[in-house]
Amino acid sequence: MSLDDLYREVILDHYRSPRNKRKMDDPTVVVELKNPVCGDEITLYLKLSGGVVEALSFEGKGCSISQASASMMTQAVRGKSLQEALELVERFKRMVRGELPASEADLGDLEALQGVAKFPVRVKCATLSWEALRRGLESDEGRVSGEVE
Ligand code: FES
Repeated sequence: MSLDDLYREVILDHYRSPRNKRKMDDPTVVVELKNPVCGDEITLYLKLSGGVVEALSFEGKGCSISQASASMMTQAVRGKSLQEALELVERFKRMVRGELPASEADLGDLEALQGVAKFPVRVKCATLSWEALRRGLESDEGRVSGEVE
């Protein structure tokens, strides 16, 4: 199996069996974010406590890249401090924009999305959930809604 095939498998696995795709009963922050170009949207639930992302889950609809990215993100960010989570957002965005080689990004399974850098129109698909996370971490509490530019 080539590396590309392996990455495709990882993405499809997360798309077909998304992790942490459910509503959360007691979030401290809820972010609703829409990609106006395609109409896809995500609702991200965050439970922030003591400076740590204690739990996160999501609902939404979208393409395989956006859904797989959200699923992997929930796994990668859980238990991280707010600062670590923000750093992860930056590293991930830089990788999918092709600004940071995956070998330096140190993102585990998320490296499966590095190929997105070759398809600029898909970058927003990959970063939709991450942008929701960034806005949620910065708002700290309450409900946020918006669109990506
Ligand atoms: Fe809408 Fe990918 S096509 S987020």
